[in-house]
Parts: sequence; C-alpha cells; structure tokens
Amino acid sequence: MKDVRILAIETSCDETSMAIVKNGKEVESLTILTQMDTHANFGGVVPEIASRMHTENITMVLDETLRKAHAKIEDLDAIAVTYAPGLLGSLLVGVECAKTLSLVYKKPLIAVNHTMGHIYANNIESDIVYPTLALIVSGGHTDLLILKSETEMESLGSTIDDSIGEVYDKVARVLGMPYPGGPQIEKASLKGEDTYELPHPMQEEGYNFSFSGLKSYIINLVHNERQRKNEIRINDLAKSFQIVAVDELTRKVKYALQKTGIKNFILAGGVSANKYLRSEMAKLCDEMNVSFHVPNMIYCTDNAAMIGCAAYPLYQAKKFSDFTLNAKSSEDIKSYIEKELK
Ligand code: KG4
Ligand code: ZN
Repeated sequence: MKDVRILAIETSCDETSMAIVKNGKEVESLTILTQMDTHANFGGVVPEIASRMHTENITMVLDETLRKAHAKIEDLDAIAVTYAPGLLGSLLVGVECAKTLSLVYKKPLIAVNHTMGHIYANNIESDIVYPTLALIVSGGHTDLLILKSETEMESLGSTIDDSIGEVYDKVARVLGMPYPGGPQIEKASLKGEDTYELPHPMQEEGYNFSFSGLKSYIINLVHNERQRKNEIRINDLAKSFQIVAVDELTRKVKYALQKTGIKNFILAGGVSANKYLRSEMAKLCDEMNVSFHVPNMIYCTDNAAMIGCAAYPLYQAKKFSDFTLNAKSSEDIKSYIEKELK
C-alpha cells in the first residue's frame, strides 16, 4: 500500500505546531512553538495574544517542519488541521493556513477534532487495540469513552463542571505558582506530605466527574488560612490535592473497566503527562489485567503529530472537508463522533 504522508496543523490554544506524519504513526517531523512564557506573565492564556502570536509564527513553523523532514508540500498527500474545540481566534489561524495550503497545492483538506487527536497520539507508540476504554484529561476535557472501532465510539461520561486540567491550573494559581499549573503542582507534590484532609469528589456511582467542589474547597481553605495569617504548607497541599484528584480519576476508570469488561485502556491529554497519574493508572491496569497505553510525554500535551495520526483514518475513509470549513470553539466529542465518524 502506498505511504500516506500528512501535514498536520495544530493551533487550538497556545502552541503553534506542525508535523508530518506517515501512515498515521510515524512522526517524520514535529515543531512545537509554545507561547507559555508569554501567557505566564498574565497567569493564563490571553486569547487575543495567542491568536496574534500564531499569526506571527505559523509560517516559520511550517518552514521548519518541512525543512526537518526534507519535505516539499507537493510531495505530501493531505493537509490536516484542528478545527475544534479551542480558542476561536487561535483555531482560525490554523484553519485559514490549512485551507490556503490545500487550495494552492491541490491537496485534500482534513478537519480534525482536537480531542480525537489526543486519543490518536496513542497510535504513535503502539497500535490502538479495539475495544478500548479511553480517559482524556486536558485543560478542556475530562472524558471517558469506549472506542469500539476506528469509527465507532460511545461516550460514557465527562465532567459536569471543571476539567481536571483546569482544576490543576486553578489550584496552582491560588498557591502562587505560574501558569501552566499542572507541572508545578506535580513538582511541589514531590516535596510534600499528604497532610491535608480534602473532600473526595462525587462519591456516587456513574461515569461523570465533578471537580468544582474540590477546587472551591482548596481556594476557600487558602483564603481562610491567609486571612488568619496561618502558614499554608504549599507542597503538602499540592500533594494532598493530587492524591484526591488522581484517586477520583482511577476510581472511575476502575468502575468503567469492571462494568464493561474491556481489557484495554488508553490515557490521553495534557494531564496524562503527570507521572503520578500515569503510575497509578498503570498500577490499576496491572491489578486488573488490562493492557495500558499512554503516549510518550512529548505527545501528551498539545502537538500537531497527534492531529496527523487522527487524520489518517479520515484520509482512508475519504472524509475530506471543503473550503467552507470554519473553526468551532466548542464541540462535544459525542456529537462529533455521531456527525463525522458514523
Ligand atoms: O492537552 P493540553 O496540552 O491542552 C488542552 O487541550 O487543554 O492540556 C493542558 C493541561 C493544562 O491544564 C496543564 O496544566 C495540564 O494539561 N498539564 C499537567 C501536566 N502537564 C500539563 N497537569 C498535571 N501534571 C502535569 N505534569
Ligand atoms: Zn489538548
């Protein structure tokens, strides 16, 4: 079978990224230009600045990506782009770039959902085996899904309020740590002890998550202690928070594995870069005799290689977009699956 090489573009948040991916698996070239340091000055991503920086940098990122793979756009088979969900102004830069390249070089245009990209990042290391349970944990998502086949999925549950990444970022912020907070909490927790008693989120059965209670509890606790001029043991609080948050994620995954009897599990999304979460999930899967997959660290947080992976089955199914393609700031994974994949 002929090799399929896809140029993939990802600009949904604060990373300008492009990749060339062969056959949905082999990353020939990947460039990630992060704006993290700029947004850190504001304590979070400023959408207006993010889209301007994508506009400034996207041509340079394209050049670099082609150069590293010694590739020409003429020789590639398709242009794939994240069109949803994400920051609208940021997505638009990538979408417009992809449409222009597709028009000029007469290459098929493939619209990729960002969350699907996180899932397909798992195809880089090993082939996704179906059926598999998948947990996507990122700044925008906490979704539990069953992947039945490449084109068939069932959404089991998701967060009813904040995503887990958002909570990591908010807790870090109240503790005075820079953005993005996830890696900071992880670092602090390594130096701490589990000495804070925190409420466990949503104790009932079912597949949905809720993290806003835990978040508010920690924010209130910090404010109250500050008002009373009491010391906040930052490393300890980071550790106690991480234990409760990860425990809730593993508890729900365990419940889903028990209920469905599925023997494969995929962890994906930015928060899956967290070593404690990775090791707790690995332990659970080991105990339950379930095969566990998580992307290599570099492919956990936002990158275009995962978009190239997710675009491959769409290329094979000839699910191409026309030039009316537009960016969408939100897209529920369930409706995407029903609309695009069935
Ligand atoms: O997937 P991602 O790069 O962007 C979105 O699609 O949202 O995820 C970003 C999220 C942020 O909330 C960030 O704090 C979190 O992933 N994150 C982590 C770690 N690395 C990134 N959270 C916990 N531990 C980490 N090591
Ligand atoms: Zn992401």
